[in-house]
Amino acid sequence: QQINFEKPFIGSIDQGTSSTRFILFDSKGDTVLSHQIPLKQYHPNPGWVEHDGLEIINSVNECISQVLNKYKETNIGEISDIKAIGITNQRETTIVWDKNTGKPYHNAIVWSDTRTSSIVNRFNTKAESLLKKEQQSQSQQQIVPKDYLRDICGLPIANYFSAVKLRWLIENVPEIDQSNALAGTIDSWLVWNLTNKKTHITDVTNASRTMLMNLATLEWDSKLCDFFDVPNSLLPKICSSAEIYGHVESGPLAGVPIASVLGDQQSAMVGQMCFDKGQAKNTYGTGCFLLYNTGDDIVHSKHGLLTTVCYKLGKDSPVHYALEGSIAVAGAGVKWLIENLGFANNSKEIEALANSVQDTGGMYIVPAFSGLFAPHWRDDARGVMVGLTHHTNKAHIARAMLESTCFQTYEVLKSMEKDSNDKLVELRVDGGMTMNDLLLQIQADILGLPVVRPHNLETTCFGAAYAAGLTVGVWSSAMQFHIGKRFTPNPNIDHMKRINDWHKAVSKSVDWVD
Ligand code: G3P
Repeated sequence: QQINFEKPFIGSIDQGTSSTRFILFDSKGDTVLSHQIPLKQYHPNPGWVEHDGLEIINSVNECISQVLNKYKETNIGEISDIKAIGITNQRETTIVWDKNTGKPYHNAIVWSDTRTSSIVNRFNTKAESLLKKEQQSQSQQQIVPKDYLRDICGLPIANYFSAVKLRWLIENVPEIDQSNALAGTIDSWLVWNLTNKKTHITDVTNASRTMLMNLATLEWDSKLCDFFDVPNSLLPKICSSAEIYGHVESGPLAGVPIASVLGDQQSAMVGQMCFDKGQAKNTYGTGCFLLYNTGDDIVHSKHGLLTTVCYKLGKDSPVHYALEGSIAVAGAGVKWLIENLGFANNSKEIEALANSVQDTGGMYIVPAFSGLFAPHWRDDARGVMVGLTHHTNKAHIARAMLESTCFQTYEVLKSMEKDSNDKLVELRVDGGMTMNDLLLQIQADILGLPVVRPHNLETTCFGAAYAAGLTVGVWSSAMQFHIGKRFTPNPNIDHMKRINDWHKAVSKSVDWVD
């Protein structure tokens, strides 16, 4: 069917954990053209997850070229009709490179990597002794060591965040020459390359995942940098999420402004138009990330969630914060069934397999492959399968893997309700896994809440495009949210027993190690 695209256009790069994409949107927010390339992950040791920085850049350039070739072939418009591009990216993943040669000193350490456990232990011990000293001098409330820095950066000390990854690189890669090195998350690496080495920046959302930024000042914090012993000179300049940082220097988009940067989960909040305090969305990608907009309040979680910057859409615009429940393994669990266990050829087949049985036969999988993130924060947890019987087959395992994402989301949502003193009326969802109707029905049943899938599933990519469009004046106000499908909970299903069983399975995943 012929779609009439409305000029001007905005491009969006989505550099994720499993793939890179470039999408061109029109001014109604419709997808004009897109291209996606899977991204290789390297696992040189158990628990290690790496990306090759140059492969990331090549994948971005390739996606842009493919889209722009089609754009020219189909005469959709001129290059001058593309007013800006935005960038959204996997967060926390950290890379250090030589500013003269442009080459990374080492592969990027991905957010789900667990090699930093001993560094985390070291920092926890340091936090413990600092806390003892500080608690002796002031009569402070009891703080556990991993939460020592939470007041400043909103995060617990854990493998997940960039500071410990950067520390590992500094300590283990002797080639890093600090006078020539630059460090950053993937957004910084992309902007630096796209602007041909001119611009070393990050945005507030990505910076809020490093453990080095102060949530209140939105600047690198000297207490945090000193604690992790990270030199400030390596770090990018922190900017808002929507402004012109520079222009693409070469290739088919040469001259086009780079007008937004947002971490992918925050970009999905923008793409879902969750601009009001109290709105939430859950994105089911490699991992699963539930964000709840807390407006201009920095809400410090007492129930295992993270406090993060949600967005700051313009240099002079107000900052919005969010509570976040991060789940390390969602789609990655399905990928594991396909790639490691050979259960099926693709995720569609996993859905069909899971749908071929009514239930899991009483079995549970806790896919704690990278430890457990929210609300447990146990780097030492490992995956378990419990409740196996002679009856258990591949279909039960496939279903249990899908259910594990829904149970983990349940745990996060409960923490969110406690922290916010608010009950959600519905949950907006997006991400690759949400094409799976079975998953969303199970999710609605377990939560006892309607789950709403938007018409436009490209919300992560669209968020960055929307922010870029705001910067250059293509849009001036929020766009309408269009529902694709609503999944309502089945009132006849009582999941409490299964939720209790899930909690028991989780306790096995954290208890089997010493
Ligand atoms: O925090 C990690 C997150 O940003 C990764 O997202 O979509 O690549 O699973 P995704």
